[in-house]
Amino acid sequence: MRSQQDSAGGLRHLITLEGLTRDTLIAILDRAETYRRLPGQPAYEGRELAGVTVANLFFEPSTRTRASFDLAARRLGAHVLNLEQQASSRVKGETMLDTIYTLEAMNTDVFVIRDSEAGMPDFLIDHIAPHVSVISAGEAHVSHPTQGLLDALTIRTHKRRFAGLKVAIVGDIKHSRVARSSAYAIMTLGTSDVRLVAPEALLPSEDEFPGAQRFTRIEDGIAGADVVMMLRIQKERMVQSASLDDAAYFRDFGLNSKRLKLASPSVLVMHPGPMNRGVEISSEVADGPRSVIREQVNNGLAVRMAVLAAIAATLTRHRRPL
Ligand code: CP
Repeated sequence: MRSQQDSAGGLRHLITLEGLTRDTLIAILDRAETYRRLPGQPAYEGRELAGVTVANLFFEPSTRTRASFDLAARRLGAHVLNLEQQASSRVKGETMLDTIYTLEAMNTDVFVIRDSEAGMPDFLIDHIAPHVSVISAGEAHVSHPTQGLLDALTIRTHKRRFAGLKVAIVGDIKHSRVARSSAYAIMTLGTSDVRLVAPEALLPSEDEFPGAQRFTRIEDGIAGADVVMMLRIQKERMVQSASLDDAAYFRDFGLNSKRLKLASPSVLVMHPGPMNRGVEISSEVADGPRSVIREQVNNGLAVRMAVLAAIAATLTRHRRPL
């Protein structure tokens, strides 16, 4: 597996959480806590990214990840450019690599990339200049590392520990990069009771999520759970999605108040967003007292600041001299 750290242990890239140690994850979460500000408090303003140029290349739709990477970079003093597929020369046939080379020639230091093609971040790292960093903002169904970190931070904030927690991940796990990264994060941090809850067709293959239990009835999967992470059905990643019936899915797998009573009384209800209310989750639960969904968004900004700051600190060691 490719190392995402340099010989001094500094973070060079972040395209997956796999391979990162518990201590590395904890260091990022600790740093994120120093950047976290509640809505209504003055935002953190720093200079950790002064002189650094960050390019956000989002070639798949995004609200939370894109907005928070943009704000995170600006609040740490970076120059930021945002490029979307429809407004870029990729619609004229330019390859991703030529887009990267073009922006590299304008002294871009960090590329934040969301793309539907599995393997793209890894491919880019093989071709970029040695002083440039790549952060994945979501890679196909494979990985969404900053989502995994923000989910871990949200759980740690409320539960103070990972060992001994029962965590149910419910929904379209098969197509979910969030499930893969979040499960990896919490298992690395000490949670052993991870339950994958989905209709048979939406469970991942047996060789994935080692150590997790599998359930095909939501009532069984969320019983006694300390954390319930709900997932959207990702129709955009399915070959045949037209046959899926939203009402039937909500009846069989939707999280409503009645089902939530099966979980621990202190359960955290999480959702990475975007939510489809009335499909995987009821509004009563999404907006209810056990929901930490908006806290996840707040933690997402702090985590992305922490990742950018860690990478910027490493970057300075790899820059070309004047
Ligand atoms: N959770 C998440 O990645 O949301 P966006 O697609 O809005 O960025």
